[in-house]
Amino acid sequence: MQPRVVVTRRIPEAALQRLEAAGVTVQLLGADAAPSREELIEAVRGAAGLVCLLTDRVDEAVLRSGEPTLRVVANVAVGVDNIDLDAARRQHVVVTNTPGVLDAATADLAILLLLAVRRRLLEGVELLRSGHWRGFALDGSLGTDLEGSTLGLVGYGRIARKVAARAGAFEVEVLHHARTPTGVPGYVSDLDELLERSDAVSLHVPLTPLTEGLLDARRIERIGPKGVLINTARGPVVDEDALCDALESRRLGGAGLDVFVGEPNVSRRLLDCPNVVATPHVGSATNETRAAMAELAVSAVLDVLAGRAPATEVTT
Ligand code: GLV
Repeated sequence: MQPRVVVTRRIPEAALQRLEAAGVTVQLLGADAAPSREELIEAVRGAAGLVCLLTDRVDEAVLRSGEPTLRVVANVAVGVDNIDLDAARRQHVVVTNTPGVLDAATADLAILLLLAVRRRLLEGVELLRSGHWRGFALDGSLGTDLEGSTLGLVGYGRIARKVAARAGAFEVEVLHHARTPTGVPGYVSDLDELLERSDAVSLHVPLTPLTEGLLDARRIERIGPKGVLINTARGPVVDEDALCDALESRRLGGAGLDVFVGEPNVSRRLLDCPNVVATPHVGSATNETRAAMAELAVSAVLDVLAGRAPATEVTT
């Protein structure tokens, strides 16, 4: 019998076809919306593989339901906070993600958000759309230069390094913080010091129990009233209430946010805060990147089903 692979949401057609061409029965659950928990639990029963998105919670119950046939869970995302890795390990289910291919697109978005906040892009667009623009003025819509400013990166993985490269082209001084010394110039061992020395801070850490709420009220304050916080990582790394407090009282200059606590429900209060540019979790949302992510996920599934070690296994 052909192995069955559950695909929770629509992925690029070429990737689906590759699965089918390899003799796999593909069960596509939902097209536009994430399947319900019950649907997911039911679907993985007897399946050999699961291709899922970050919107699918793959917890112990889902993994158990796949026992003993389920061999691989391929997340079409680099972050794997939606998957219970311990339960997967206990069950000998291989978990894979999509590192590398989304670094450039995500780094581009971080820089885009940074520029948008510093140059007050949304206010300018709104001024024009509302018909209230009275013409060029020397002191109209003034933002802040990027050149000569200091950008602090929290986390120094692949995406952060791409952000650093892009920031370098803007003649920005780049500092970075990571839990273990990187040996790269600009390393700051103390996170609080990095926040204080930076004009803008961009987050590039995975969501884990260690990073949840990492940017709390005290740390957000350290970025300062002229500072900007950029988050293209995961919403819960930032205490959103504290972020709102700081933005509303102008103790933080602005924020560029692509990720939120409790997606897709985004706090109205946050969206209404001054100088916030928010995008709907689109860090990796380019045609090329999404196609490459789906290809990586499918390669991983086919590797595991063929008894090969996938290149993108999540080992931590
Ligand atoms: C996107 O947020 C990802 O983790 O790939």
